[in-house]
Amino acid sequence: MNTFVFPPHTIRGRLTVPGDKSISHRALMLGAIAEGETRIRGLAPGEDVRSTLSCLRQLGVSIQEQKGETVVQGCGVAGLQKPAGLLDAGNSGSTMRLLSGILATQPFTTTISGDASLCRRPMRRIIEPLTQMGATITAQANGCAPLTICGGKLRGIHYTLPVASAQVKSCLLFAGLGAEGETVVEEPLPTRDHTERLLRKMGYDLQMANGKIRLMPDSSTSSALVHSIRGRLRPSIASVFVPGDFSSAAFFLAAALLLPESELIIESVGLNPTRTAFLDFAKEMGAAIEIANIKNESYEPVADLVVRHQPLHGVNISGKRIPQLIDEIPILAILATQAEGETRIRDAKELRVKESDRIAALAYNLRAMGATVEELPDGLVITGPTRLHGAEIDSYGDHRIAMAFAIAGLLADSPTTIRGAECADISFPGFFEILRDVSRLAR
Ligand code: S3P
Repeated sequence: MNTFVFPPHTIRGRLTVPGDKSISHRALMLGAIAEGETRIRGLAPGEDVRSTLSCLRQLGVSIQEQKGETVVQGCGVAGLQKPAGLLDAGNSGSTMRLLSGILATQPFTTTISGDASLCRRPMRRIIEPLTQMGATITAQANGCAPLTICGGKLRGIHYTLPVASAQVKSCLLFAGLGAEGETVVEEPLPTRDHTERLLRKMGYDLQMANGKIRLMPDSSTSSALVHSIRGRLRPSIASVFVPGDFSSAAFFLAAALLLPESELIIESVGLNPTRTAFLDFAKEMGAAIEIANIKNESYEPVADLVVRHQPLHGVNISGKRIPQLIDEIPILAILATQAEGETRIRDAKELRVKESDRIAALAYNLRAMGATVEELPDGLVITGPTRLHGAEIDSYGDHRIAMAFAIAGLLADSPTTIRGAECADISFPGFFEILRDVSRLAR
């Protein structure tokens, strides 16, 4: 499907974005291996989370929609059933990497695969540590999916992640839940900590200090997540609220910053500090984004964001905060085209192994729209401001590329076509409808 984006004059309004994708995957998976019932409010509606949901159902987990909640009947850490066929993770790296940690602890063999993009993404980063824990995993010769995971009794592991990845960290924590002995995961740089927060919310005692996360398998405080293998069965009911996805909100924050006379209020957005480095860099670029109605009482901080048009200037984006805005770099690159001076994005070579090679996709499409951009092995240098021209954009089947260039299209002097725009549904069904609504209000 091709979508055409026409430049509006300005955008205004109030909106909400779908539930956080990362938290949704984790809530479903932890709900599936908990004892008792987990009720999830605000589950992300996108295709990635649908992939997790259907894999878990194939593993024998009952998951139902009831009055706006998603109700998961947990099976216990070792209680999943061997699926009848292959598990399909679709386009979702989180589904494949996180679920593999759980599959590695089950006493059966499973094969998990995905679409062409997912089957190109690196999986050795989970295969190696899971193998050290005692699982047997086969993959393609290049270390990519399909993965056949022969699970069983695992040993805990002390592991330092070679790359900062919340998916790998979470995979190992999930495997550690079903392993004998202690699991300690050390991360080189802080990454999103939704798994740790949810584990704690569900009653699991884990320690976090100096970049190390220690799972305590003998913890007597473990309640919702019960180690059935150790005979402690304490059913409980957990209720999980999923805040709006900051990564989805970022597209609209950028649109309002860039279009003159714009003002948007985005309600109930998750503001976990391991996810919001975009706000800090936007501020450094000159943006004043107001945070209102902060609700800190929940296991994840939530607030409304108020954003108005503002002139921006270039900034250096690199170093240890990169993992905390990795998914926002595509939209930051669009901001950079309108900022005065140079924006340098470095230390971001992980972008090359996302749903697409995002560095190459950004460079190609930005050039097509007339931006001044230099591609680096680990980032981009963008010099602005430049008047963007409408162009035919290739989404490369990558949701964040499609949405970032839809926002770029709002700034262009002629219509833009986004090829394969339907991939926005992977994280944000309804993105183009909301974009049209807030644009139309100004006309
Ligand atoms: C995610 C972690 C990040 C992020 C992805 C979601 C998660 O990936 O890019 O969109 O939910 O843990 P990596 O762990 O590969 O950095």
